Amino acid sequence: MEILITAISLLGLLTVAILIGTKGHPTRFFTAFGESIRLIWINRGPLFWVAACVVLVLGFLFFYYASPATRVGAAQPIPFSHRLHAGHKAIDCRFCHSYVARSHHPGLPAVEKCLFCHNYIIANHPEIRKEHDYFNTNTPTPWIKVFYLPEHVLFNHQRHILKDIACEACHGEVREMDRLKGERFKMGFCIECHREKKANLDCWLACHS
Ligand code: HEC
Ligand code: HEC
Ligand code: HEC
Ligand code: HEC
Repeated sequence: MEILITAISLLGLLTVAILIGTKGHPTRFFTAFGESIRLIWINRGPLFWVAACVVLVLGFLFFYYASPATRVGAAQPIPFSHRLHAGHKAIDCRFCHSYVARSHHPGLPAVEKCLFCHNYIIANHPEIRKEHDYFNTNTPTPWIKVFYLPEHVLFNHQRHILKDIACEACHGEVREMDRLKGERFKMGFCIECHREKKANLDCWLACHS
């Protein structure tokens, strides 16, 4: 969707640029364009166009295969799926993120939490063996953090959760995602909801350290 919008706006910009550049006679651009293509063909020969086509195809393939990855979010050390665990199996968020209402750091679950089930469920799955390795070597799982705030903003979940604001209001439909996409929150995101819900807007005092 974002890609489509970007493509359409780029096309619009290009049209405007051509209209301005040709002082309202866009056909001039295309005859000039056709003429330069003819000249390049004569001067450089067909090999130039073969090379150009290869570059175009490679470029297309790059965007085709790269863009789903950018929509999905970071690959994690273990391909943990919220869709499966929190959605399909309906495990409560707090089972894994136990400190969310109490601390500045809701915390990502320690591997013991996973083994609580995975000592019994698909215990020999290669990805679950990774969990055992982390556990046996006492290594914290190197999960990649995906939600960010600007450095100087202090955020505490507690007040929000006590007001029954759903996790989804800020984190999106976690239960439907395999890999969390994450977000770099901007201040406008906080302000918008605070205005709507008539919460504290005095952000310099309340949110900034
Ligand atoms: C309350 C039980 C429970 C907990 C806790 C739990 N899981 Fe699972 N997990 C499951 C079940 C059930 C399945 C589905 C097993 C199956 O496919 O038969 C599963 C499947 C998986 C799979 C395999 C998915 C696939 O594509 O085959 C991975 C990887 C996984 N879990 C990782 C984790 C990690 C990492 C944690 C800890 C953060 C965790 N699980 C915590 C119950 C749990
Ligand atoms: C079985 C354990 C488990 C359950 C249940 C679970 N999570 Fe998670 N959560 C994890 C693990 C493991 C990670 C780190 C890997 C990742 O980002 O996918 C994580 C990461 C996150 C993050 C990203 C934090 C960051 O910045 O990296 C958010 C937000 C989150 N979970 C919200 C939720 C919400 C909301 C629910 C309930 C709908 C939920 N989780 C249920 C295990 C769980
Ligand atoms: C009002 C918005 C809001 C709500 C509601 C919310 N979160 Fe968050 N959450 C955030 C922000 C902002 C961050 C990033 C905090 C940071 O980087 O300091 C975050 C970070 C996290 C993290 C990563 C923490 C870490 O230690 O890296 C987890 C896990 C998480 N939230 C889980 C949840 C769960 C579970 C719920 C629901 C019970 C929830 N959040 C509700 C805004 C929210
Ligand atoms: C979905 C709505 C929503 C979003 C998004 C949200 N907040 Fe809030 N926030 C509230 C509400 C409602 C309260 C009031 C809670 C209360 O009255 O106890 C609150 C209270 C607070 C407080 C306590 C203010 C006080 O009175 O002392 C702070 C600090 C805060 N939010 C920071 C943030 C920051 C930082 C962000 C952005 C990362 C954010 N909030 C995003 C709804 C939101």
